[in-house]
Amino acid sequence: MLNIAVFASGRGSNFEALYRAIGKEKIQAKIVLVISNNSSSGILSLAHTFNIPAFHISQRQFSDPNLFQQKILETLTSFNANFIVLAGYMKKMDPVIIRAFPDRIINIHPALLPKYGGEGMYGMNVHKAVIAAKEKESGATVHFVNEEYDNGAIIGQKKIIVDSNDTAESLAAKVLTVEHELLPSIIKLFSEKN
Ligand code: GAR
Repeated sequence: MLNIAVFASGRGSNFEALYRAIGKEKIQAKIVLVISNNSSSGILSLAHTFNIPAFHISQRQFSDPNLFQQKILETLTSFNANFIVLAGYMKKMDPVIIRAFPDRIINIHPALLPKYGGEGMYGMNVHKAVIAAKEKESGATVHFVNEEYDNGAIIGQKKIIVDSNDTAESLAAKVLTVEHELLPSIIKLFSEKN
């Protein structure tokens, strides 16, 4: 059984899509907890609505970065998490956590990696860059997390067409639609292998 910890910083629509897909498609996985670095993030309130334990854990709460990582590890362990999904988590994952979950941490990115990834390429920045470059297509990527931004092995992608009249906002909405399909489909694959 996949016991998933979802990390996110914002709205939480990917979390919600995953939560609903697990129920609807009877995926052998459970979201056992949510962690956000942002106390006012939508994902924390969504998790409360779904009765999923949710925690605000931020580097700012700790004078020592090691204690921050220790808190995250302890929280993951106390809920038996064995798989981590970064769904709009705008922080770099610490190597300590990456080493504790080898090949068990995945991230969803709103572009077709390896294009439009790396430091600073997150959220709307990605879509603005895609529009500025007049790309004909974009999409979503799910990849393993390693110690560099958006650099781990790609697990799956889903493409969309960029229309000539698309704006960064309309593109973000289109990409989000495929993110909501891609992430659950990848979790389903992991759940079948588990
Ligand atoms: C999503 O588009 C996700 O791909 C992106 O943040 C958004 C979160 O939306 N992630 C990144 O840019 C990470 N590099 P959500 O909170 O509604 O799921």
